[in-house]
Amino acid sequence: MSKKVLLSGVQPSGKPHIGNYFGAMKQFVDLQDSYDSYIFIADYHALHSLKNKKEMKENIINVLLDYLAIGLDPKKVTLFKQSDISEHTELAWVFDTITTMPYLMRAHAFKDAEAKNKEIDVGTFNYPMLMAADILLYSPDIVPVGQDQKQHVEIARDTAEKFNRIFGDTFKLPEPMIIKNMEIVPGLDGRKMSKSYNNIIPLFAEYDEVKKCVMAIVTDSSGGVPKNVYAIHKLFRSEDELKKIYKEKEGKYKELKEILVEDIEKFVAPLREKRKEFSKDIPKALEILKAGSAKAKVIASKKMEEVRENIGVSL
Ligand code: ADP
Ligand code: TRP
Repeated sequence: MSKKVLLSGVQPSGKPHIGNYFGAMKQFVDLQDSYDSYIFIADYHALHSLKNKKEMKENIINVLLDYLAIGLDPKKVTLFKQSDISEHTELAWVFDTITTMPYLMRAHAFKDAEAKNKEIDVGTFNYPMLMAADILLYSPDIVPVGQDQKQHVEIARDTAEKFNRIFGDTFKLPEPMIIKNMEIVPGLDGRKMSKSYNNIIPLFAEYDEVKKCVMAIVTDSSGGVPKNVYAIHKLFRSEDELKKIYKEKEGKYKELKEILVEDIEKFVAPLREKRKEFSKDIPKALEILKAGSAKAKVIASKKMEEVRENIGVSL
């Protein structure tokens, strides 16, 4: 029996942190054996916030190296780049023509931008249509995303339904797969770990940097357990072990943090080494991406042919 199809996209927006890893990236690796997986670098999405040629190039390569380093296997996962497949933007246009402004005004990304009183670019407004195209071209069964992206997958589903109603059955309706009740990983200051809060532990940090970050974790302790330290620690060790350690070292925050540093290091060191290996041969990593894009292109162009046929522009 052929495997079900999984698709997800990742914006090339800076260094990943351990919140991203445990909250999202790791699941792609865990699922790669069970699904025919498509993971793409959403560079056109990142263009909303990133308007710098050099940084864009670096970020794309960095995301590619990050994903190879955490163990995405190109034999199991088609890794590709959104901008290599012009069908994404082409289909997004078609979707623009069947979607109303009031409908898109309900999207979170737009509402957030509006609340910040920004001058919103048309791309930010249309973002869910590009995302719908990203998804629907590949007929995935599931789209694993964080809670914050659930609405966008639902918009893709609505858009598929609407298109099918107007032009006949064309798109498979995707299901969002909300990454299983993953708790939010707290950052150094106890708020959600996030690039935008400057409170992260980078996933590929060197030992000294990890140490510096961990020592800076705010130790707010209710009942003797420094809860932020513990919340991060339990990603790296079983709670049975941790409970013992935290009881033995009650109140000794520095020592607990030192144990955490060693545990993170044990986990991260091999990933960091793998990343270094991949970064020694960037042309090889780019070959992987190119081969992935070639494979994705075949699927996307076939689907787009069907769309052109069904809307009546192919003669
Ligand atoms: P950031 O907030 O650092 O900009 P993104 O919004 O780029 O992170 O998130 C990328 C993915 O990582 C999303 O799927 C998101 O749900 C997940 N993620 C981000 N921060 C955390 C966190 N602190 N804990 C768990 N998952 C997270
Ligand atoms: N918008 C998603 C994010 O910000 C990235 C993304 C773009 C995506 N296209 C997608 C995710 C398609 C899943 C499917 O994280």
